[in-house]
Amino acid sequence: MAPRLIFRRQAAAPVFDGKLWRHVCSWSSSSGSNGSSSNNKNKNSRYKCDNVEEEQQQQNNEKLRCKPDKSNARRGATDDSRQTTADSQQTPTKDAHRAASLPANANADADAEAEVEVDDDSDAKRYQARLNLKSFRARKHIENMIRAPLVKALGALGSPTHQIASRAVRTSAILAQTPAKAPEKIEVFVDDIPVMVLPGTTVLQAAAEIGVEIPRFCYHERLAVAGNCRMCLVEVEKSPKPVAACAMPVMKGWRIKTNSDLTRKAREGVMEFLLMNHPLDCPICDQGGECDLQDQAMAFGSDRSRFTDINYTGKRAVEDKDIGPLVKTVMTRCIHCTRCVRFASEIAGVDDLGTTGRGNDMQIGTYVEKLFLTELSGNVIDLCPVGALTNKPYSFVARPWEIRKVDSIDVLDAVGSNIVVSTRTNEVLRILPRENEDVNEEWLADKSRFACDGLKRQRLVAPMVRMPNGELQAVEWEGALIAVAKALQKANGQIAGVAGQLADVEAMVALKDLVNRLGAEHLVTEQDFIKGSGIDVRSSYLLNSTIAGLEEADAVLLVGTNPRYEAPLVNTRLRKAYVHNELQIASIGPNIDLSYEHQNLGADPNIIKDVCSGRHAFSKVLEGAKKPAIIIGIDLLERADGAAIHATIAEYCQKLKKPNWNAFNVLHNSASQVGAFDVGYQPGVQGALQAQPKVLFLLNADAGKLTRDQLPKDCFVVYIGSHGDNGASIADAVLPGAAYTEKQAIYVNTEGRSQQTHPGVSPPGMAREDWKIIRALSEVVGKPLPYDTLDELRSRLTDIAPHLTRFGQLQQTDTGVAAQATPTKSISSTPIDVKQKELRDYFMTDAISRASPTMAKCISAVNKQQRLDEATKQSAAAI
Ligand code: SF4
Ligand code: FES
Repeated sequence: MAPRLIFRRQAAAPVFDGKLWRHVCSWSSSSGSNGSSSNNKNKNSRYKCDNVEEEQQQQNNEKLRCKPDKSNARRGATDDSRQTTADSQQTPTKDAHRAASLPANANADADAEAEVEVDDDSDAKRYQARLNLKSFRARKHIENMIRAPLVKALGALGSPTHQIASRAVRTSAILAQTPAKAPEKIEVFVDDIPVMVLPGTTVLQAAAEIGVEIPRFCYHERLAVAGNCRMCLVEVEKSPKPVAACAMPVMKGWRIKTNSDLTRKAREGVMEFLLMNHPLDCPICDQGGECDLQDQAMAFGSDRSRFTDINYTGKRAVEDKDIGPLVKTVMTRCIHCTRCVRFASEIAGVDDLGTTGRGNDMQIGTYVEKLFLTELSGNVIDLCPVGALTNKPYSFVARPWEIRKVDSIDVLDAVGSNIVVSTRTNEVLRILPRENEDVNEEWLADKSRFACDGLKRQRLVAPMVRMPNGELQAVEWEGALIAVAKALQKANGQIAGVAGQLADVEAMVALKDLVNRLGAEHLVTEQDFIKGSGIDVRSSYLLNSTIAGLEEADAVLLVGTNPRYEAPLVNTRLRKAYVHNELQIASIGPNIDLSYEHQNLGADPNIIKDVCSGRHAFSKVLEGAKKPAIIIGIDLLERADGAAIHATIAEYCQKLKKPNWNAFNVLHNSASQVGAFDVGYQPGVQGALQAQPKVLFLLNADAGKLTRDQLPKDCFVVYIGSHGDNGASIADAVLPGAAYTEKQAIYVNTEGRSQQTHPGVSPPGMAREDWKIIRALSEVVGKPLPYDTLDELRSRLTDIAPHLTRFGQLQQTDTGVAAQATPTKSISSTPIDVKQKELRDYFMTDAISRASPTMAKCISAVNKQQRLDEATKQSAAAI
């Protein structure tokens, strides 16, 4: 009988590729870490993880492909299950099919060593070749698993493995971009229902494919898998113990039982364990009625508990943390799912939250007492599955069954985040995000979420006319409209209109139509931009790469913008691409904290010329990228040399263009701007001033860019808007309009996507929807507009620009043309700056957020934190 050879195999050897593995081996054996150098040596002698072996392996693979594998047939009758399992992981044979249905621990225990027996020398060689093939595939798999942050962390720590890992990432990125054959789907059974899924799909995802929902607390689709709550335990046939569905990839042929006795028992056990420490304070908890723990305790928990500490001596209690004016903490309720911690570090890019202590003493907190300082902090409230983190301004305000929910969109920046407005008795109580993969995913910026209390303050509730004594006095609608109509009749066509940040498309079109009918054409936006042909070409003022498309970019240059505060949910896309796609980012402007690493090229505007002429080092990066993007801040284009900057970058973007990809992007920060350009408004208040108007309409124009001194003395200013802010203060007639939660209105976001708001409440007092005010005024002035209803007005919009009424869709822009502006002057040497540099600059940027007490509290909290930080630094320096 031929001698029987025994091969010992490490199931998940940490290999990269031939060369890299050799480096890693030699480094680890020279350092002698973990005392396993002799093991490594043995392993190396058997696996020969080098290039020679790879060549050999290729030849062996060829042989394997040509020859039928007889050894499998022989072993099929005689070998033990471990041998079969080892084979089945890579070879599509009957044995493999059989092995796939074996228990999880027998199939793929990463640390277990498998012992393989073969009959003779030739079998041994063949088997060695097969193991080499597996080793090769394992290397590729592990390369793909290495993620950028790890590489960056190694680099920051000066680790010798940094270069190796970095090269591995580059290699894997190249491999990932090479079109590969789609992997074959495998069949698994969930509650005896067959489902075909891709390899690597988790049990939880496979179950979701056929609509079976597995309960979970820590798992979240957009966060890394933590696998620490165990609520998702399910039974897998032939597995001795239940498996965590969120963290376990399925194997071929697995039979998963989500409703078996074992699964039910496991869930009851987990629930009992969680409720052992979680306080039963649902009646006074703000999460009550929309609490995952409450719902799952009802659905999957037991009515008994082995926790009988009726004196409450052993119940865990944790001190609450003060993390700011937005998020209220009741940390005794925390179940340590770590969703908040993962959100903060993965999505928001701040490492403020973390865990301290172990076991029963584990706590979620900020290590030292400080605020959770990010523009995205409110999202942890939605993520927290219990009442540990709740909405502070909304605490004890309402129960979920008392409120009415209306789908709408946010207008406090130019992203157009999808929201749900919760109302009760004609009052907006809170705003939550609504999922839209193309716009905001499921996140919401803090200003959009918490500034809703500004909707109740500083409101204009009655029309007002300025009296001879200089004071504004409330009047009836008739009185106000007649006063404005008289001024219009006297103006003799010297009329102008300025649309502000919160103006909706319907009101802008109605105002334009009225002003045109009165013989004038001066309609401008408060926000300046380049003039002339710049706004004739739609792609010259849009974020052409699209918000979701920025995730695919591999090189981004930010010019004069801080997306973190100007458009936080565009910034999360850039961060996502940075974390997952190795996106390289550089900025021209002040060096600011963007929540991810980026290269600041300086604030000198000449750098724009250098980059765009190909002389700068970053030009190579942009030109070598598959999807490069240059993002220009809208405020930069307000400069005198804005047109020159725009044209220089636009021309360079023609060079960078790729099929179906436009690298030229303008990041707006006001919700009305794109819609205004779409319906024919010109940029900049200078256009209105040049007209020397006798009547000037301010439509939600509250940025304070126009002062009374700039206007002719006899100019009659009419303000239409919702808040008593800058615009109303200089007006002779104030016509109270509706805020975005009180009207059905269209806004076009920075990428050119038209969306509409829906009314959650009615306008307060005598306030009316803006377009209706203008329609009524047109009647009084004797030039009636040809629409009486919103539908008729929207038909008019469709005539002007059909994309305005195709809600949620993006109109394809010309990828070849970014802009056709001609630089009238050269770029000046004034350093490039941005308006919103720090978090405190973010909170109050429009009439609604300026009226919000919560936003005011945020600013004072940030200031307080900064004072504390400075004091700590000084005392540390003194020591
Ligand atoms: S505070 Fe909430 S989200 Fe954070 S770990 Fe605790 S339960 Fe999870
Ligand atoms: S959801 Fe799977 S362990 Fe928490």
